[in-house]
Amino acid sequence: MSPFTLEINGHLRTVNAEPAMPLLWVLRDLLQMTGTKYGCGLGLCGACTVHLDGEAVRSCQTTAQSAVGHRIVTIEGLGPDGLHSVQKAWIAEQVPQCGYCQSGQIMTAAALLATNPAPTNTQIDNAMVGNICRCGTYFRIRKAIHRAAQEMHP
Ligand code: FES
Ligand code: FES
Repeated sequence: MSPFTLEINGHLRTVNAEPAMPLLWVLRDLLQMTGTKYGCGLGLCGACTVHLDGEAVRSCQTTAQSAVGHRIVTIEGLGPDGLHSVQKAWIAEQVPQCGYCQSGQIMTAAALLATNPAPTNTQIDNAMVGNICRCGTYFRIRKAIHRAAQEMHP
């Protein structure tokens, strides 16, 4: 076990963890930040998506050690002043069904819109392809991303 100081949602948090512990376990088990979900643990479903320096990454495949010195943002910190535009659009379009995949979907969508203010359907599909939704909310996810893009860049 080693102490690691990580920057999470703008705050420095020190945890005792094995260097190879997945960031997902640091968030969920050590810091009780359970908004980030465990789906497959294999980098295949996207439920565990967080931002590392603004980029969408799989926290189940990111070690605690490799996250040191990087800006980590989780669903809990995505909208520092309340709801992020993507979250507002998710509510307006009533995207979630069971909800399990949705924090990962939102984090991937927010990372997409940070680099592409007006993505096409194809660009959305390409960006979101790694985020699996067993409830099949893909059509509403697309609509919500277009809505958020409008709000962020009218
Ligand atoms: S839990 Fe990380 S990709 Fe599925
Ligand atoms: S809303 Fe149920 S898995 Fe996506």
